[in-house]
Order: sequence, then structure tokens, then C-alpha cells
Amino acid sequence: MAINRYEKYWLIAVFTMLGAFAAALIVGVMVFGVRLPAPVARIDPRNIANTEFAKLGVRKLGGNRVDVYMVAKMWSFDAGAESGAPGAPPKIHIPAGSTVTFNIASLDVLHGFYIEGHTINIELVPGQVARQTARFNTKGTYKIICDQYCGAGHQVMYGDIVVE
Ligand code: CUA
Repeated sequence: MAINRYEKYWLIAVFTMLGAFAAALIVGVMVFGVRLPAPVARIDPRNIANTEFAKLGVRKLGGNRVDVYMVAKMWSFDAGAESGAPGAPPKIHIPAGSTVTFNIASLDVLHGFYIEGHTINIELVPGQVARQTARFNTKGTYKIICDQYCGAGHQVMYGDIVVE
């Protein structure tokens, strides 16, 4: 079977490109540890008291590691009694230099969790635990914002991370 010369060049170009894409994918997975976001855990929003979310707030794990447990509901974030009055925008205090893992669950509808100046922007899907880690090196106050429209009070759904 005779193949036209230009067709042959295009075939070579196509397979070279496919090979390069496949190589990039393999290097990404094997070398850089790139993974698709996967569900962390499921949770029953009506049964929060019997889960790790029963006690909300900051948990210092030693070293520079900190866990934060929060829930989101229309229209506030709740990070426990130490971060402020229930229903008020929470102020979460974190020592500078901490590596913070946020564990968040929505109790009602889809919310968002965005932290200004950091690499955190996650969707809070009801029934699923959202978890993400970031380092907080620079002292200051960083806004937490719900960036998924979640109803009439969406614009008052925010809080502060205070790195000190
Ligand atoms: Cu919660 Cu918008």
C-alpha cells in the first residue's frame, strides 16, 4: 500500500505528538505525583456529632503541623467556639510557618472554600469531606470566601485566617 509522502509526514507528526503527551502524563504521575482529586471520605451531615467533626476548630499536631476542622452551612463557616460566636464569620488563629490541613464538610448545599493568597479553592459537596493542605509562612490576615453561589446569604459567608 502506497502512502502519500505528505500523509506520511503528518502521520509521523501525529504519533510523535501522541508519544510526547503520553510521556508527559507518565512523568507527571511517576515523577511529580500528580493525581486526580479523589473523594476523601463520605459523611452524613445529619450525624455530624458522631464523626471527627464533632469537635470543630484548630488542632495542633506538634511540629509545624496543624489540622483545622470546619463545617459550612447556609450562610456561615463554623470553626468551633474558639474562632468566635456561632453564625459570626470565624477568625482562625494559626502560628506563622504552619502547614495547615483543612478538613471541611458542608451540612446542606454546595459551598466553596477559597483562601486569599494561597493555593486553596475547593468545592464543599454535601455528604463529602473536603481536605486540602497549605503552608502559611507570612503573618497577616487572609480572607476565607465561599465562592460557590449558595443562596440569599452567599455574600456574607466568609471568615479570616489570622497568621501570627
Ligand atoms: Cu456558601 Cu456561597
